[in-house]
Amino acid sequence: MPVLGIESSAHTLGIGIVEKGTILANEKSMYRIRSGIIPMRVADFHARNCGMLLKRALEKARLSISDIDAIGYTKGPGLGPCLRVGQIMARTIAVESGLPIYPVNHAAAHIEITKHLAHFNDPLALYVSGGNSQILALADKPFRHYHIYGETFDIGVGNMLDSFARAAKLVPAWGSSVEKAAVGGSYIEMPYTVKGMDFAFTGLLTHAIKELKVHSVRDVAFSLQETAFSMLCEATERALLLTHKKELAMSGGVAQSTRLKEMLRLIAKEHKARFYVAPNEFNSDNGAMIALVAEEMHRSGKRFTLKDCTIEQRYRIDGVEVAWE
Ligand code: FE2
Repeated sequence: MPVLGIESSAHTLGIGIVEKGTILANEKSMYRIRSGIIPMRVADFHARNCGMLLKRALEKARLSISDIDAIGYTKGPGLGPCLRVGQIMARTIAVESGLPIYPVNHAAAHIEITKHLAHFNDPLALYVSGGNSQILALADKPFRHYHIYGETFDIGVGNMLDSFARAAKLVPAWGSSVEKAAVGGSYIEMPYTVKGMDFAFTGLLTHAIKELKVHSVRDVAFSLQETAFSMLCEATERALLLTHKKELAMSGGVAQSTRLKEMLRLIAKEHKARFYVAPNEFNSDNGAMIALVAEEMHRSGKRFTLKDCTIEQRYRIDGVEVAWE
């Protein structure tokens, strides 16, 4: 009983197909960003590519649309025009084919695919992406949900790295180029903001951009990255001590960072916790994670009407009932 998942919250359009937890297809088309994201342009790109990508995903899974049993799409959080493309596509297929449809929280999907691939039961999760940075774990009261132990007060660590990459004229203008530019750098003092298990990045970003006038890009990139990742690690370690979890999962676009993986792995080892990060294919935005959660929702028996299938740009994970476990 294959389930189709559509992800379109930002610059990646992803279509995944999952059957009983096995990923049959995970196709993507990515809008290449040069200087900042213009949501309407990205949405146009997704709309132009969605038919081709659906065909590609079905071919990869060796299925036709009539074989699909249910459909999931990203409800949010994300950019309105981009989310709208995935929602309309999912609703159209659901109506045309008479399939049940599931609105999926993007952040929960990132965590769930990591848990699934790691065979984790109850991890502490560090979710680090462009738009968000949060430390989470499942809680049962007042309903089963992801409790946020710590999060950014301002911008996500990914957007901070991307903004710096653009200011430093790094190509490509996103976080991975900061990691490359930082190799061999020396540390310059940077503002460090952790309050309990929360953190903030805008002061650090402003300071780093100013430092570009007097220091090399390499030294500033190195210092920025070390400081931001140390902040995330300090807050995560505190949450690990508080929750006594023995599994630590990292998810989201920034989880592709080799340096952050290395730092977090050390913390997990120190606290005798198992550590897992999914392969990059599943940390960048993808349709398989949406299909996976939709399959779990379908299995749990919960059903949604078309009226429930809206989009929500600021759809917070702590308001989502984890009814699929
Ligand atoms: Fe994401």
